[in-house]
Amino acid sequence: MITSSFQTSVAVLALIILHVSALDTFKAAVYEHAVILPNHTETRVSQDDALLLMNKNIDILEIAIKQAAEQGAQIIVTPEDAIYGWKFTREAIFPYLENIPDPLVNWIPCQDPHRFGRTPVQARLSCLAKNNSIYVLANIGDKKPCNSCDSACPPNGHYQYNTNVVYDAKGKLVARYHKYNLYSELQFDVPKKPELVTFNTSFGKFGIFTCFDILFHDPAVTLVKDFHVDTILFPTAWMNVLPFLTAIEFHSAWAMGMRVNLLVANTHNVSLKMTGSGIYAPHSPKVYHYDMETELGKILFAEVDSHPRNSLTYPPAVNWSAYATTIKPFPGQKNSFRGFISRDEFNFTELFENAGNLTVCQKELCCHLSYRMLGKEENEVYVLGAFAGLHGRRRREYWQVCTMVRCKSTSLTTCGQPVDTALTRFEMFSLSGTFRTEYVFPEVLLTKINLAPGKFEVLKDGRLVNKNGSSEPILTVSLFGRWYTEDVRSISGRTSNSATTYLIISTLLMIIALQNIVMV
Ligand SMILES: *[C@@H]1O[C@H](CO)[C@@H](O)[C@H](O)[C@H]1NC(C)=O
Ligand SMILES: *[C@@H]1O[C@H](CO)[C@@H](O)[C@H](O)[C@H]1NC(C)=O
Ligand SMILES: *[C@@H]1O[C@H](CO)[C@@H](O)[C@H](O)[C@H]1NC(C)=O
Ligand SMILES: *[C@@H]1O[C@H](CO)[C@@H](O)[C@H](O)[C@H]1NC(C)=O
Ligand SMILES: *[C@@H]1O[C@H](CO)[C@@H](O)[C@H](O)[C@H]1NC(C)=O
Ligand SMILES: *[C@@H]1O[C@H](CO)[C@@H](O)[C@H](O)[C@H]1NC(C)=O
Ligand SMILES: *[C@@H]1O[C@H](CO)[C@@H](O)[C@H](O)[C@H]1NC(C)=O
Ligand SMILES: *[C@@H]1O[C@H](CO)[C@@H](O)[C@H](O)[C@H]1NC(C)=O
Repeated sequence: MITSSFQTSVAVLALIILHVSALDTFKAAVYEHAVILPNHTETRVSQDDALLLMNKNIDILEIAIKQAAEQGAQIIVTPEDAIYGWKFTREAIFPYLENIPDPLVNWIPCQDPHRFGRTPVQARLSCLAKNNSIYVLANIGDKKPCNSCDSACPPNGHYQYNTNVVYDAKGKLVARYHKYNLYSELQFDVPKKPELVTFNTSFGKFGIFTCFDILFHDPAVTLVKDFHVDTILFPTAWMNVLPFLTAIEFHSAWAMGMRVNLLVANTHNVSLKMTGSGIYAPHSPKVYHYDMETELGKILFAEVDSHPRNSLTYPPAVNWSAYATTIKPFPGQKNSFRGFISRDEFNFTELFENAGNLTVCQKELCCHLSYRMLGKEENEVYVLGAFAGLHGRRRREYWQVCTMVRCKSTSLTTCGQPVDTALTRFEMFSLSGTFRTEYVFPEVLLTKINLAPGKFEVLKDGRLVNKNGSSEPILTVSLFGRWYTEDVRSISGRTSNSATTYLIISTLLMIIALQNIVMV
């Protein structure tokens, strides 16, 4: 039929146009910002003073946004807390907040600045996107009125949210995300449920979350696994913690483990160890920045695949336990000893020889290492460590970690303490573990806090191996696993299975303790 073949040709033509207009790659920018902090974070200032401070920060972001546009970037990410800082009481942050509407309202604040009340920050950010024809992600504060009909309504009659907004190249608000996993931010409220925020562009599908969110299943993992986003935009105010959680190290590992692009913009404050931004592709970091020397901001650029899943370099899916569960454990268990990495009790075993095969276990997790050093430095000691359990003081997040790490000194009691330099080079390493989770993030951190792009890979059977010698001395090679279903979730009164067990055990322990007290 004529009409049908006409429709077909229209469809084909549309496909061709779509193909031509959709970009295979795009240029991304991230900006690490040294935030100008307010003088008063305990007491409330006027809205005008708050705006004055915010505009000082936006003046600096404006320079970065213009520079990004001039370099041909399609999108720029700016950091969490970049516009007013991180430390506030609920009361003191209030004058910095604006009512941020749902993007469904179809709003270009730059053209219609008074549609939702007093919103000067949103208007300015929208104009920066529009005037420079670039997507802009910024992190600002949202306030949402509530009343006593809502029993959870805070005393000041407003919910206050740590919020990411994205404006498209025409200045239109296309995304709004309220941070779910807060990290001791008393000034903000937790939204009722995790928001799964995505938006489409001609250069791929995007998802957003913020800082501490990256350590949890929702919304981070769901955006990648169920919503199939190509690229995550990730503003953060990240304080570096050795040996597993420096920004560049963990964020690049998350991108590899989740096999997604990750654009990270961190704040910059040397005394708080806040530094480390980057553009990370699934197979390798594209560019990163770590600077503990200066107090300066920094813009980074990289060309990124719009749809990494279609790219030739897209890494294959990994079965993280395939190798480790099928081999016979190596020796090493006999010499294992206990040690701590922050508050987590690890089982360690020392790398005595210049080369060898070792296994160390804890609970369900056994870690295997094969290695060959290029020459063992006299005064450097490395251990292989295993940890499986609830992490840290809060004991809510279940970690499974296999790590080869340099000890701070030759005394084995210092293993796990932060150390940022090393001299020992490895000709070969291969690390694997009997992980019970599919969420494992491969980390390789070199001396002086450097990444090793292109120098290692993860094999389909779960081995993390070096590719061709290691040019630089190694601080740590780790497989950082998160077993989310074993997490304890009791914040909102909901308790998971393991939480229930935990509660029963602690109740029993309390009864026993009480009996002892009574007996004494
Ligand atoms: C903080 O106070 C100092 C000294 O009074 C002043 O120079 C500076 O401009 C103030 N900063 C802000 C952001 O108001
Ligand atoms: C955007 O451009 C308009 C008109 O050229 C100008 O009035 C406005 O100040 C600009 N805004 C920003 C934030 O650059
Ligand atoms: C993005 O586009 C896909 C189809 O290409 C569609 O299924 C999805 O709903 C869109 N998402 C958004 C947030 O617009
Ligand atoms: C870094 O943050 C601390 C604490 O918030 C602050 O006192 C200090 O002034 C900041 N440093 C710079 C260079 O802004
Ligand atoms: C991973 O490999 C192990 C060992 O070969 C196998 O038992 C397991 O079923 C595999 N897991 C998945 C999810 O394929
Ligand atoms: C480690 O094991 C491999 C085989 O799995 C073997 O070829 C190698 O010689 C062993 N290395 C050492 C130093 O024992
Ligand atoms: C640590 O290793 C020792 C020796 O293999 C083992 O007996 C012990 O159970 C391990 N600790 C944990 C907590 O698994
Ligand atoms: C390995 O590295 C050496 C020296 O760095 C180089 O000469 C060699 O070509 C590399 N081999 C491969 C397979 O990349």
